[in-house]
Amino acid sequence: MELFERKKSLQQAEKALVVQITLPLSFAQYSEQECIELASSAGANVVNAWHCHVDIPHAKSFIGSGQVEMLKLEVQRQEADLVFFNTTLTPSQERNLSRDLECRVIDRVSLILDIFALRAQTHEGRIQVELAQLKHLSTRLVRGWTHLERQRGGIGLRGPGETQLETDRRLLSIRIKQLQKALSKVQKRRELGRNRRQKRNEICVALVGYTNAGKSSLFNTLCHTEIYATDQLFATLDTTIRQVHLTGVGKCLLIDTVGFIQNLPPDLIAAFRSTLEESLEADLLLHVVDIADEDYQKKISAVEQTIENIGAQNIPVLRVYNKIDLLSSTNEHLFVKQAIEKTEGKTENAVMISAEKKIGLTELNRKIAHQLSGQFVRAELICSQNYGEIRAKLFALGEVLSEDYSQVTPKITMQLSMNAFQEISQHPEIEKAELV
Ligand code: GTP
Repeated sequence: MELFERKKSLQQAEKALVVQITLPLSFAQYSEQECIELASSAGANVVNAWHCHVDIPHAKSFIGSGQVEMLKLEVQRQEADLVFFNTTLTPSQERNLSRDLECRVIDRVSLILDIFALRAQTHEGRIQVELAQLKHLSTRLVRGWTHLERQRGGIGLRGPGETQLETDRRLLSIRIKQLQKALSKVQKRRELGRNRRQKRNEICVALVGYTNAGKSSLFNTLCHTEIYATDQLFATLDTTIRQVHLTGVGKCLLIDTVGFIQNLPPDLIAAFRSTLEESLEADLLLHVVDIADEDYQKKISAVEQTIENIGAQNIPVLRVYNKIDLLSSTNEHLFVKQAIEKTEGKTENAVMISAEKKIGLTELNRKIAHQLSGQFVRAELICSQNYGEIRAKLFALGEVLSEDYSQVTPKITMQLSMNAFQEISQHPEIEKAELV
């Protein structure tokens, strides 16, 4: 049944051609494999990848009229419904190409926006994507060839595209204003939550990383919950926050964030800023890296760039090299381990794990605790004779290291934040509190 459903959906999926352009080194280059994955994530059936070389992008069609002719033949041969250009096109290039190729042309930004439209789950996420799409669409309002597809809601035209393309710029700007207002309301609520968390002195650890690196899988493993983890790009679009207990750390908040991608389109950086800003309040960033991806070094740089763009570069980072179960041989394992040690220098800043096969988690936990150790103090607390509620409270506030009940006034040794120590010292059931 499942196979039948899949076959059916593939038949219905729009046939797509990926155009992979080689450019001189001074231009941004994007991986062909990633573009195919993005296209599949958007629901397309990629029938072929067409390669070409461009020295200087042509103003009218990016690839030049000769190559447009050849591409047109390929589009006809493959009976493609749409063409993905794995680069950024100007609105007029997109228009000229779709007119000449007689099919829809979608660039990298539109493709990513489309996936975001498909995946956004929460109210805030939907508003953010709609806003980014409308801003992007407002520069492309004049294309006249999508008349029929618009009603069908094909790739690149989903979400607001289906209705908003028909409206004029005036209506569009009214809608953008409405959305911005709604968004600022939601963001205020989110800020309140953030302030409340800061007041409660909770330690925050945020998972960041390239899309598909395995953040949600690690989140699940650490929380023992089932958040959506799947082999699709941008499966997680909305920030998820859970309270977890980590050995050596105690209770802390774990934040799963939206995946990063090389040169995230500016509209999306702006739109998802508030989501990404959740990681700004973190005491530690776990940068999850897919070690089995041959482009992992490039992706590390892309993530670091985004971290810098959102102003989170001063937060300590622990690199979590994930999916080591996919390294097939001991040799490969050793080779990668050496490569990581060479990049990282101090290996306390890096750890190799498999979130799915639960390998290396004790070491990960130890390194998280090590990284956060500056945030904690060690305290000895003597409880009063009539202690009742304090024990549960202590367990909620930090990591209890030992308990001694041999005396009438029990002694508890624990690790907790300085603010939590000051708070608990005032509790009526605590007779004496000392830092050790
Ligand atoms: P985005 O939501 O796109 O940002 O992705 P993500 O980083 O949250 O990745 P996710 O956890 O959704 O995992 C992506 C894919 O990698 C899924 O198919 C997982 O099953 C797979 N995966 C995650 N961790 C491991 C691992 O340790 N080993 C293997 N073999 N696969 C893994």
